Amino acid sequence: MRIVLGVGGGIAAYKVASLLRLFTEAGHDVTVIPTEAATRFVGVATWEALSGHPVSNSVFDAVHTVNHVRLGHEAELIVVAPATADLLARAASGQADDLLTNTLLMAGDCPVLMAPAMHTEMWQHPATEANVETLRSRGVTVLEPASGRLTGADSGPGRLPEPEAIFTAAMALAGAGTAAAFEARPAVDADATTDMAAAPAAAQPAVTPLAGLTVTISAGGTREPLDPVRFLGNRSSGKQGVALAAAARAAGARVRLLAAHMEVPAPAGVELVPVETALELREAALHAAADSDVVIMAAAVADFRPADVAGTKIKKRDDVADPVINLVRNPDILRELVEVRDAASRNQLIVGFAAETGDADGDVLDYARAKLHRKACDLLVVNQVGRDLVFGEDTNTVVILSRDGSEPQEASGSKSDVAAAVIDRISAELSRAVPPA
Ligand code: CTP
Repeated sequence: MRIVLGVGGGIAAYKVASLLRLFTEAGHDVTVIPTEAATRFVGVATWEALSGHPVSNSVFDAVHTVNHVRLGHEAELIVVAPATADLLARAASGQADDLLTNTLLMAGDCPVLMAPAMHTEMWQHPATEANVETLRSRGVTVLEPASGRLTGADSGPGRLPEPEAIFTAAMALAGAGTAAAFEARPAVDADATTDMAAAPAAAQPAVTPLAGLTVTISAGGTREPLDPVRFLGNRSSGKQGVALAAAARAAGARVRLLAAHMEVPAPAGVELVPVETALELREAALHAAADSDVVIMAAAVADFRPADVAGTKIKKRDDVADPVINLVRNPDILRELVEVRDAASRNQLIVGFAAETGDADGDVLDYARAKLHRKACDLLVVNQVGRDLVFGEDTNTVVILSRDGSEPQEASGSKSDVAAAVIDRISAELSRAVPPA
């Protein structure tokens, strides 16, 4: 594959020499384009020796080959590391004042991955945040920087992710070697998440097909209050949703977990949004979906809530009849998420879960297909439930149905195994549906 490796002017440029080696050793043809500032950290000779190609950062070198047009046109993947605050700003505003920014503008459909590195203040500055958002909205994959010791005595988010992590994210983005990379993925443990940012360079690289993406996952069961001490609830333990959050995090995503009642702790490294009722979950989900690339509704949402919620504990009394609970229907959050997404023409994958028991009128899959049609989400993960099945258990068997009518896919094993299979399927859907920009 023809790769353009842009190098920004940061101290982390020295680590990019290892990244270049990973690319060339995997058989890729790499042209390095350092910025002027980058060559103050690592000289042109190093990049030329390691890549085996001449290296320039000027549009006025090798003019006869029309480098500033050709490199962008010919590239099958562009990786920029370290992407400094300045480089992110120049790329976001479409400047073309050197060979690298020219190449980025000429890139067309070529996938672009940027691995930022800078001081925490710079990374968290609203200007940088806006630039990152702009780039992501254009389809550029901007990795989250790692956390740790920075150039000086300071530490925090801003470190360049390890070369192995950038390499695997780049390969996944370009769709090359993903299958092998997926095989190399260590089993995801719901209770012990892999913090890609903090992971040291290891022989077995992290696989981050969801790097740069935001995934919102709802988990657990909603509780619908009757009075201050009682509620209508359900048997959901939250284990499957938590395993999904861990798997999405391990796949490099920024993960937001909308946590209704759960019997297990949330994994580390996710943004936790606690909710209690279906109405609270609806509000949190609509809010979170606005900037999410993927929304997974794994929560067991109560379809009904008590019409009246007593302000004080309901007492049994001999002088009045026993209370009757009137229920009103809760909104269908999944259906609403799909409607909002479609109305906004948002590029977003929405995944539902279906808990079915089957009955005399139809089996689990009959009901699931009808539900997929009704909810119009992209994927529906179906499991069979019952008092002794699935709820609170550590294992699960699911069938993944797709709205495009493709063959149902079965996955089973621990809830972590199932979560990894669902996240792999989501990654595959995204790489098919979203043309890299
Ligand atoms: N769901 C939702 N809002 C609701 C009910 C369910 O968003 N009010 C979501 C769940 O999170 C799940 C999917 O819809 O992703 C299917 O949930 P399920 O309870 O199986 O479906 P229902 O719509 O409740 O259908 P029914 O109970 O009639 O089978």
